[in-house]
Amino acid sequence: MSAVAVVGSLNIDLVVRAPHCPQKGETVIGSAFGMAGGGKGSNQALAAARLSASSHIIGCVGSDDFGRRLRAVLTENGVDCSQLQTRRDAPTGTAVITVTDEGENSIVVSQGANSLLDDKAVTGAAKIFEDSDAALFQMESPTHTVVTGLKLSRRHGCRTFLSAEPPFSLPAEAWGNIDYLILNERALSFYAGKKKHDSIASMANAVMNRGIKCLVVTQSAKGGTIFAKNGDNFSFDAFNIRSVDNTGARDAFCAGFCVGLCEGMPLKSAARFASACGALACTKIGAHPSMPWRHQVSALLGEASGDDYEL
Ligand code: RIB
Repeated sequence: MSAVAVVGSLNIDLVVRAPHCPQKGETVIGSAFGMAGGGKGSNQALAAARLSASSHIIGCVGSDDFGRRLRAVLTENGVDCSQLQTRRDAPTGTAVITVTDEGENSIVVSQGANSLLDDKAVTGAAKIFEDSDAALFQMESPTHTVVTGLKLSRRHGCRTFLSAEPPFSLPAEAWGNIDYLILNERALSFYAGKKKHDSIASMANAVMNRGIKCLVVTQSAKGGTIFAKNGDNFSFDAFNIRSVDNTGARDAFCAGFCVGLCEGMPLKSAARFASACGALACTKIGAHPSMPWRHQVSALLGEASGDDYEL
C-alpha cells in the first residue's frame, strides 16, 4: 500500500446548477442546489484513500459545523486527520460553484481557515512525510507554506507533486523541489509567461527549464501531454464519458497519478489510471461524492481495454 500526504485546502462547496455561468452584472435563474465536501486538498486526500492508499491530510478547518462535517467524511473514508487543525479564529473554507448543464464549472473560494495553514502546521507533520511515499500540494493554501512543505517533504524522502491551481507566482527555490507539476492550459500559460503564438510544447519547455522532473499538462476532454526530463514526452487520451459535473475531476486525476506512480506503475500506465479517475469524477454531482473508488477505476480500465486490466 502506498502512503500519500496531502497538504491543502478543505471547503464546503455550495453548488448551483445553471444554464450558463453569469456574466458581469447578470442574474441567472438556476435549478438544483446542493452542498458537498470539497477543497482541492480534501478532494485529493479522499480520492487517494478511495484508491487504496494510506492517506493523510494536513490542513485547517474552522470550529463550526462545516469543519466537523469535513472531518467526519474524511475520517469515515479512512483519511488520517491527526494533522487537521480546528481553528477558532476563522470559519471553514467555502466555495460557491456554478455548474452548467454541460457539466462545466466556475468557482469562487472564500479561504477561511485554509489561509491559516502556516509553516508550523507542515513542520509539525514531519513524521507523516517521513512515513509517506509522496506529498501532494495545490495552491489554495498560502504560497509560503506550500514552499516549506515541498522542501520538507522532499527532505524526508517523498516524491513531490504540485497541482498548481489556482496559479500563483512561485519563488525560485520552489522549482527545484517539485518532481511532478500538474497544470491545466491556463496555468501553463501563466507559468510560461505565454506570448501570443506559443504552442503547448514551447510553453512546456519554458516551464521544464526551471528544474522540475516531469510536467503534466491536462486538457480536460482532450486528454493531456506528459513532458519528462529525459525527453520521453507523450500524449494521453481522455475517456469518453458524459460529464454531469467536472468539479474535482483534476483532483481525482492528481490523486490517481500520484497513487499510480507510488505503486510503481510506469508513467504511461499512471497517466491512463489518472485519466480514468478524472473521468469517473465527472459522472456525479459534487466533488466529494464523485471521488472514485479503486474498483470503479479498475472496471473502467477493464472495459476500455476489452479485457481484465490488472493493476
Ligand atoms: O478542484 C475543485 C475544488 O476547488 C472544489 O471542491 C472547491 O472547493 C475548490 O477548492
